[in-house]
Amino acid sequence: MCKRTSGRPTPLFWTRVVLKLTPLCVLPGRPVSSSCPVQISPPTVVVRFGDPLRIICSSTSDQIESIGLESRYGGEKTEGVSSVVLDITSVEHWEVLVICFLNRVKVDQCSENFPVTVYKAPDRVSISQPSLTAPLVEGETYSLKCDVVNVAPVQNLSVHWYKGEKILRTERFHGSSKPPVNATSVFNLTAQREDDQTRIRCEAQLDLDTVPSLPAIKSESRAVIVQSWLDLFWCFYKHTKIRFFKSICRLSRRVLMCGRCCLTPSA
Ligand SMILES: *[C@@H]1O[C@H](CO)[C@@H](O)[C@H](O)[C@H]1NC(C)=O
Ligand SMILES: *[C@@H]1O[C@H](CO)[C@@H](O)[C@H](O)[C@H]1NC(C)=O
Ligand SMILES: *[C@@H]1O[C@H](CO)[C@@H](O)[C@H](O)[C@H]1NC(C)=O
Repeated sequence: MCKRTSGRPTPLFWTRVVLKLTPLCVLPGRPVSSSCPVQISPPTVVVRFGDPLRIICSSTSDQIESIGLESRYGGEKTEGVSSVVLDITSVEHWEVLVICFLNRVKVDQCSENFPVTVYKAPDRVSISQPSLTAPLVEGETYSLKCDVVNVAPVQNLSVHWYKGEKILRTERFHGSSKPPVNATSVFNLTAQREDDQTRIRCEAQLDLDTVPSLPAIKSESRAVIVQSWLDLFWCFYKHTKIRFFKSICRLSRRVLMCGRCCLTPSA
């Protein structure tokens, strides 16, 4: 059943290819021949979840009998021409592989696998914890969190932390998950005097080999208020202990006056 003496696929063969995705005699994930003279356009397949996709496979071989493209959404095959076009109306899976097959005169069938990157921009990017509305204390370290909700693929996600327009930190994510995930980037901010009245935000960016690159999704920007220890001391002095300090002053004045009284000979 697996003999390919003529190199010509039977109708049954193509039926199996279309129905089963993995053709007979082809090990999944491994091309039959390591040098299959096919290429696809676009060379890197990147598509947004739910969008249509068009892939063209072509060969420069001068002995083409037929050329075919296969995916979980179906396949296409042409005879005697050097290319084949596969149109997918809507990509609605996170793991998609496209296989291009080539049949040549007197040569075994060969094929090449092309993975498709399916992406999804995050639903929401936000800074959580701690509340930046309360003043930060100079010299203290605060762990700020940037939550990126429902993004794919995580291995192409990076989060940038900004102070004003300056990037403070970039975190690149790793992992192999293809479906969307929630990602969190932590940034440890040690409050400094010069951070006072600045604004902090984070941005999520999907780094994909596409032109143009995808826009970054920004969080809201948060105002930072930093209180120095001197500020805190004055605040403490003014608001809590003012009576205490005043009474010490009053007391010391009384002691001095009393001393003077005592030194002065009584009339
Ligand atoms: C991501 O977080 C949202 C809520 O913010 C939740 O509904 C969703 O299930 C989470 N997704 C995953 C993959 O954990
Ligand atoms: C931030 O600080 C926490 C504890 O203070 C620490 O566990 C964590 O590794 C730090 N993260 C980074 C990115 O420096
Ligand atoms: C996704 O990121 C990986 C590295 O993590 C990179 O090799 C790959 O080319 C990226 N995919 C796309 C479609 O840009």
